[in-house]
Amino acid sequence: MTDMTNPTTDENFERVCTLEEVPEHMPRRVQYKGRGVLICRDGDELFAVDEVCPHENESMKRGVIFDGEIICPHHQYRFDLKTGRCNQRCAALQTYRLEVIDEEIWLGI
Ligand code: FES
Repeated sequence: MTDMTNPTTDENFERVCTLEEVPEHMPRRVQYKGRGVLICRDGDELFAVDEVCPHENESMKRGVIFDGEIICPHHQYRFDLKTGRCNQRCAALQTYRLEVIDEEIWLGI
């Protein structure tokens, strides 16, 4: 089914940065509705997940992106960028909807 949401008119969406501001293999931290969110580029795909690691509530803005996952810099737990699931016994990361329009990145719940 096609998602007919238009981020530019949906109040749940906010423009957070441009495509060129997101590096390879490192997250780009942005603010979305008052909280830190990491935009992650893995190859041609983009994902958005919460900044705060659910293991010990540390920032993952210096995490590494590799093979569809973000690796927390503190204890190296790995989180799937699509689902937010962790490879350890740990709560999942919140994930966000992400749309690219005219080289700009929009996030939504
Ligand atoms: S704080 Fe992220 S793995 Fe421990």
